[in-house]
Amino acid sequence: MRNYDLEFLKRFSIVIAILAIITIGLIIFASFLQHAIPKEVSPTATKRIEQRIAPIGAVYAGATGASAQAAASAAAAAAAAASGAYGGTLDGKTIFDNLCTACHTSGVGNAPTLDHSHWDKRLAQGKDTLYKHAIEGYTGPDGGIMPPKGGNAGLSEEQIHAAVDWMTSNLK
Ligand code: HEC
Repeated sequence: MRNYDLEFLKRFSIVIAILAIITIGLIIFASFLQHAIPKEVSPTATKRIEQRIAPIGAVYAGATGASAQAAASAAAAAAAAASGAYGGTLDGKTIFDNLCTACHTSGVGNAPTLDHSHWDKRLAQGKDTLYKHAIEGYTGPDGGIMPPKGGNAGLSEEQIHAAVDWMTSNLK
């Protein structure tokens, strides 16, 4: 090998060695940075964690607790009344026309239509039984199924009473 080739090789290997040292240094610096800078936490992950660790219930204690509880249940009752089925109407015809008519006009599934022949025996049970069957649901001896509250659980008992009253006073 010639002399200047040797010289080149020596310098070249020194350059390679320096570059390798710089590379290793950069790797160490980068890994240090990765540990030193706090990780960014996504807001959705935080929300999910908060939901998971949220308390199951709240404790109402003392006078303030009791009044807070009363206010909460009053607000819930008001909300329920406002969101009652068909605007909370007590007009039996409106309720019938919106729901009950689906079965009680056509007589589908053995539903009694508004004819005296279908109702006289039922009326003999007394209004309270009719109310109860309309609210809790009823399966007749011939297999006809009256769903609880006609299938709309949002109806209040007063609304069911109004609808039954309207039906029984509009028999043909
Ligand atoms: C999905 C169909 C369906 C809907 C909707 C429905 N009914 Fe009925 N209802 C029936 C059937 C079927 C019967 C008859 C059950 C039997 O005696 O065989 C019945 C029976 C009744 C009876 C008589 C119960 C008895 O003791 O003889 C009343 C009262 C009544 N329904 C009221 C209502 C009112 C009020 C609504 C609306 C809020 C309503 N129904 C909506 C199907 C329905």
